[in-house]
Amino acid sequence: MAYSTFKVEIDADGIATVLIDVPGVSMNLWNEQLINEFDDWVDHFIGSDDICGVVLASGKESCFLAGADLQMLEDMQGNCDRQSRDGLIEKLTSCLRKLETGGNTSVQLMKGNVFAKPVAAAVEGLALGGGLELVLAAHYRVVDNNPRIKLGLPESQLGLIPGAGGLQRAMRLAGLRFATEMGVSGRSIDPVTAHANGLIQQLSPVGESIAFAKTWIKANPRVIQPWDAQGYKIPGGSGALDPRAIQLFVGENGKAQKVTRHNYPAIQAVLSCLYQGMILPIDLALSNDTKSFRKLLADRVPQRMIRAIFSSKKYLDSGQLRPVEVPQSKLDTIAVVGTGLMGSGIALASAMAGARVLILDQDKGIAEKGKNFAQDRLKLLAARSGIDSSACQSIMERIIPTGSYADIAEADLVVEAVFEDPDVKTLVIRQVETHLRTDAIFATNTSTLPISQLSRHCERPDRYIGIHFLSPVERMALVEIIPGAKTGKSTLAVALDFARMIGKTPIVVKDVRGFYTNRIMPVYLAEAMIMVMEGVKPALIENAASLIGMPVGPLALIDETALSLHHQLMVSTQRELGADYQPLGHEALLEKMVKDLGRNGRRGEGGFYDYHEDGTKRLWLGLAAHFPLASDQPSVEDVKERLLYGQLIPAIHCLADGIVSDRQSADVGAILGWGFPTWTGGPIGYIEHIGVNEFLTCANRIAEKYGERFRPPNKAEALFQQKSMFSPTM
Ligand code: NAI
Repeated sequence: MAYSTFKVEIDADGIATVLIDVPGVSMNLWNEQLINEFDDWVDHFIGSDDICGVVLASGKESCFLAGADLQMLEDMQGNCDRQSRDGLIEKLTSCLRKLETGGNTSVQLMKGNVFAKPVAAAVEGLALGGGLELVLAAHYRVVDNNPRIKLGLPESQLGLIPGAGGLQRAMRLAGLRFATEMGVSGRSIDPVTAHANGLIQQLSPVGESIAFAKTWIKANPRVIQPWDAQGYKIPGGSGALDPRAIQLFVGENGKAQKVTRHNYPAIQAVLSCLYQGMILPIDLALSNDTKSFRKLLADRVPQRMIRAIFSSKKYLDSGQLRPVEVPQSKLDTIAVVGTGLMGSGIALASAMAGARVLILDQDKGIAEKGKNFAQDRLKLLAARSGIDSSACQSIMERIIPTGSYADIAEADLVVEAVFEDPDVKTLVIRQVETHLRTDAIFATNTSTLPISQLSRHCERPDRYIGIHFLSPVERMALVEIIPGAKTGKSTLAVALDFARMIGKTPIVVKDVRGFYTNRIMPVYLAEAMIMVMEGVKPALIENAASLIGMPVGPLALIDETALSLHHQLMVSTQRELGADYQPLGHEALLEKMVKDLGRNGRRGEGGFYDYHEDGTKRLWLGLAAHFPLASDQPSVEDVKERLLYGQLIPAIHCLADGIVSDRQSADVGAILGWGFPTWTGGPIGYIEHIGVNEFLTCANRIAEKYGERFRPPNKAEALFQQKSMFSPTM
């Protein structure tokens, strides 16, 4: 029989090799066709007298099977009828169970006189989610000893759980603690770690996994999974009365809820499935996991998370905002001018994407220091993501410090990241343009200066654009692309091509003060400072932010980014806008903290917090002497609402004013840009969840109580009535 999603080869020993190769995609994913075809083939394998065992492998170079097709999951959530959705999920679970039991029931297997035909997984690339679940259902798991290979169960990062037995089998192979860590964190591991913890039996030299698998099959013609054999016990202790298990669940539950603040139901579900799974026989445990997966799939949190992290991100990554008529550009050489914090990061990201990168600073010595800075950061990245030393060496060889602006003539794209000073930027524009090729483009990484204003100093403003990276460049996945009034379409296209080349998600933003991300953050942070001025307990503010899912409390964030910097930005904005400056309400606090009290933030004498030598910090007790605590404190719900709407309202203004053009940019820009909580699906995702009417009522109620800054824009209602706002993104 011919299959379209995999090939089957049977050798002279009767061993089948299934090479998974889903057509038309670079990564294998479980889609409807693969599930159906694979299930058919498993029936054929079990019934066939000619096949004595099977090796599961991949026809794609660096991917074994990267999980479920998220588009399929999103379609299931939205469009597909419940019966067929549930049928597909159950089919995969029962197909994997059938594969490992050889079609026998667990009772038959327990009796000890029936066995299954051997199934070996030979892994030479990524095995994630449903891909790893397939690997774990095999009797023998051999993985190439290649640190680039990642094995993991990342479903919780999308608000789901592994639905096809991955949790249960990981626990039965590697123990409760290990499975909990994998399932809760969603982090992937390398083959050596998987081997050391018993998740896989064998590491093979690169490219030899299939040969190892076949040798094992020949030596093991009749097999049984350990958990189907008599006397099996979960390694490391399990059971409702086992003190190790009890201790683990008490601790893990507490830890998980501390991080997720009950906003992510998947984490609770992972722990619950593992708890029940360690008590139940495997078949019941699997059915419990599938039920839990189905329940989550119908839940709004994962729906919003998948839409934001997958569909909307894919929409932006796939170049939907790029002018279609402009041919794809090829950027071989990038020049970066200014090699400080941002420039060295931009140079590193470009070199990692394969470009040759010329770096310039005030002199060659400073550029060389910039290269060293990039090297230090690459070392950290390599340690985390398994980039080997020869790859690191070639990345660093591509970064070339120079002291001469004449070298700019070699660049296809120049990115300027010099001091945030209009005079310095103007000087650099002149120096760069003297040597810039007529077909090259020129970008600035300014974080505050309007592009159209800077481009007044350009001879060719049509080739000039803003590309706003966030810090640290190597970790932040978003870039804001800002065309000025005279920027040409082909320049916008090249900037988007560059973002794609270096693996960043771009949003195209109107040329206004703060662009998108820096327009909203100050408003949100100001709200926290206004509350301090009103006498709200700082701990209440920080905890309320954490409860809505913000990664760091606003007061801690102000300290990290330096109160003095916020003060400096406030003063320069006031100076620039003059009578047009619209106070945010926190100005007196900044003035007092920085100018009167010398509380400049973490790197100074402390700010809202005091910082101790042992690395700990504590809210500054002296604050109450200057901003006395109110005798009547607001409820935590009140503070949460103010912090959330302090972000939602300016985000809606940005959408209403066309600062971001679409919901995808508003949602993804918020999540990747300033850590807006993922469970919400982004500002628009959240409004969609609570309903537009509820949002408007709530915003107006807060505005009555706390001020007009919370009033939603007049256009909001009409905006949400546009069908495209809430329609599927793809
Ligand atoms: P930085 O102070 O770390 O680096 C600036 C570099 O520019 C220094 O190495 C300096 O020697 C060099 N430079 C100054 N004048 C020069 C000239 N005439 N020719 C060549 N090089 C010159 O500054 P940072 O933080 O890297 O910021 C650079 C730009 O990126 C600024 O426009 C800033 O607003 C923007 N930005 C900064 C972010 C941050 O978090 N630091 C985030 C996003 C954007």
